[in-house]
Amino acid sequence: MFIYQTIEGAKMFPKFARIALHMAIEQTLILIKPDGAFRKLTGLTIDRLDATGLEMVGAKMICVTERLAREHYSSLSDKPFFEGLIKYIRGDYHGIKDNRILALVYRGENAIKAVRAIAGATNPEQAAPGTIRGSFGRITTTGQFENVIHASSDPTDAAKEVALWFKKDEIIP
Ligand code: TYD
Repeated sequence: MFIYQTIEGAKMFPKFARIALHMAIEQTLILIKPDGAFRKLTGLTIDRLDATGLEMVGAKMICVTERLAREHYSSLSDKPFFEGLIKYIRGDYHGIKDNRILALVYRGENAIKAVRAIAGATNPEQAAPGTIRGSFGRITTTGQFENVIHASSDPTDAAKEVALWFKKDEIIP
């Protein structure tokens, strides 16, 4: 209804249309990576996520199988860092023997961009101070990026990733 009214109104007020259309309700997948868990950054990360005003609508600890890890990062399978990334996300570098990870879904207006903004750049050395990765990420001496969280990068990836990590009934409708 709101969207209908907005689109109708947009015919008379094109400027409103632009603003309204930029305010999509989105879901995004967040993973607190093994370095985040190992360094006890889980609470802090959730604090930052909550500060965006978005809603947490899914949360679970999950054991990251080899298959899940490879599927999640399948678009990067030809990258030189891929095998290290699979080990990293499964907790092999942080002694997480059962490969557990905290997976979250947040929902709200422009959730994907909002979470990417507080996550910071992929490379922890390029991530802005004050972002999660800029504050807590590092590159190890072997060149592994340890950047604390995963956050979906765009609507296509977000839809794919939420469906990969969560069953429908595990997310609040
Ligand atoms: P990518 O999807 O490009 O970034 P993001 O996580 O910001 O969406 O890469 C996935 C992960 O791969 C990234 O979080 C850390 C790792 N990675 C490296 O280890 N080295 C690299 O050079 C890049 C680009 C990524």
